[in-house]
Amino acid sequence: MNDYIDRFNTRERVLHWFVTITFFTLLLSALGLYSRLFTGYFNLFGGGQKAIIIHKVAGVLFFISSLVLFIHNRRRTTDFNKDDMEWFRYLGGYLSRKEIHLKVGKFNAGQKLFGVFIGVATILLGITGIFIWWPLAFPRWIVQLSLLVHGLLFVSSIMFVVVHVYLGTIGNPGTLEAMLWGKVSRAWAKKHHPKWYKEVTGE
Ligand code: HEM
Repeated sequence: MNDYIDRFNTRERVLHWFVTITFFTLLLSALGLYSRLFTGYFNLFGGGQKAIIIHKVAGVLFFISSLVLFIHNRRRTTDFNKDDMEWFRYLGGYLSRKEIHLKVGKFNAGQKLFGVFIGVATILLGITGIFIWWPLAFPRWIVQLSLLVHGLLFVSSIMFVVVHVYLGTIGNPGTLEAMLWGKVSRAWAKKHHPKWYKEVTGE
């Protein structure tokens, strides 16, 4: 019996890593705009003017790819059910010493929340980004509100992504393989996503 089962196909993985590259390009090119403390990061892009151009290009690419990723996962990330409420109640068992057995499908409630947050943030970052891109074409209050919302979403997205990267790597050994090679071990699937394991294997 094969010890590994398919989790993500090539298209899904390419899309995920494309979103990731555009996300980090956006982050690095925006740091210098966010605070004077970080203007040194402009050097990565050959100066402030170029960083802004790259931020705009990466913004369009992130908007499209992240939205496609959200739409692709939407059925699995928006179907919150009573098992998810249980997951939230125990915070996925991450803060407990005891072994807690939770009924988890392809994505756990935390992953669903992350997926929905990134989807909504992508739309709002895109809309506010348009107002900031052409500030003279819109009323001043709209541009100022957009700057505030864009900045708050920027900070909160980073916080979510830091947790996501930790849980997808050293926090849960075996998870990164899903996004690198597309496969996970049966033991990993049974432990972290038992309902999904049953769904795909019938066991
Ligand atoms: C170095 C950075 C990143 C790493 C190592 C990473 C790792 C992973 C891994 C291992 C999975 C599969 C989890 C599983 O099979 O249960 C995953 C799923 C996912 N990732 Fe990432 N990721 C990174 C960056 C990002 C970024 C920047 C975004 C979006 C802005 C993102 C959005 C998603 C989404 C939407 C999923 C689907 C499941 C979910 O909602 O959590 N990832 N990631």
